Amino acid sequence: MKTTAKAHTNIALIKYWGKRDESLILPMNNSLSLTLDGFYTETTVEFHDDWTEDVFYLNDEAVSGGERNRVVSFLDRIRKKAGKEGTYAEIHSVNHVPTAAGFASSASGFAALAAAAARALGLECSNQELSALTRQGSGSACRSVYGGFVEWEKGTRADGSDSYAVQVTPPDHWDIRVAAAVLSSDAKKVLSREGMKRTVDTSPFYPSWVESIPADLAAIKDGIMRKDFEKVGSIAEANCLRMHATTLAADPPFMYWQNTTLLIMEAVRALRADGVPAYFTIDAGPNVKVLYLPEYEEIVRQKLRSIPGVHDVIMSKAGQGVTCM
Ligand code: PMV
Repeated sequence: MKTTAKAHTNIALIKYWGKRDESLILPMNNSLSLTLDGFYTETTVEFHDDWTEDVFYLNDEAVSGGERNRVVSFLDRIRKKAGKEGTYAEIHSVNHVPTAAGFASSASGFAALAAAAARALGLECSNQELSALTRQGSGSACRSVYGGFVEWEKGTRADGSDSYAVQVTPPDHWDIRVAAAVLSSDAKKVLSREGMKRTVDTSPFYPSWVESIPADLAAIKDGIMRKDFEKVGSIAEANCLRMHATTLAADPPFMYWQNTTLLIMEAVRALRADGVPAYFTIDAGPNVKVLYLPEYEEIVRQKLRSIPGVHDVIMSKAGQGVTCM
């Protein structure tokens, strides 16, 4: 009843933005991501019949409060599925995701937790079932079940059974890279959950966002298949800007960008003007991720490092899906 799993985080090139069901975590739109090998979580889950509650350690420190509750209610779903209610666990999770890099460690965290807990309870899950399960811990985490380029199909059923991720291409299909520019940030964040809800409820731009997705998805998948970097990068960059435009139009409006965010966007455009293919994408925070090809790694690193306010630049390749050890 003890299993360790490893899962990598992912960066969305077509963003998931907005839920149609808050409790089952069902999205309004399909999304598409690249799993990254540089950032991962390793989680060990051990169940024991004699234990009376779940204990959760993150990076060797006991976690309590809301963060623990989220893990416990997620385990409840897995216990129910396995018919093992009343069996409690000790969970040890280690994040190799620098939080400062602005990657949601929840993506790798919930994918590793789902895989380890399901295996430890003897649940035989297909990857599809594991992805649908993982989705209920954290939406974007359902894409981290797979390596390479991954699409999360929103599904149409009310029970969420057809809302899971599928692999578009494996990690070795194409050596595309992502640089994460690390900003210092003390700013209070609008959490993605809250930001999505406010946008769906109040932004007049939101319906246009949803309408724009099918064309973006079809085009980016075609670009991925043909390894057309300009096509993939420009669609990802435009999709990111459209997502952020919906937040500017929300009521009350909100914005995730800081001064340094804009400086990085300008620097990426300057790289392109100099003939270096590079494109940016930004999640629900100020940090910027830059897509580039391996031959431009040093130029991209130097350019990003030279920007005032950028403290570090972390480069990553495409990563593998979740594995159990
Ligand atoms: O799954 P969450 O609640 O961390 O939301 C992720 C939202 C974005 O990062 C902005 C987009 C995405 O698809 O990952």
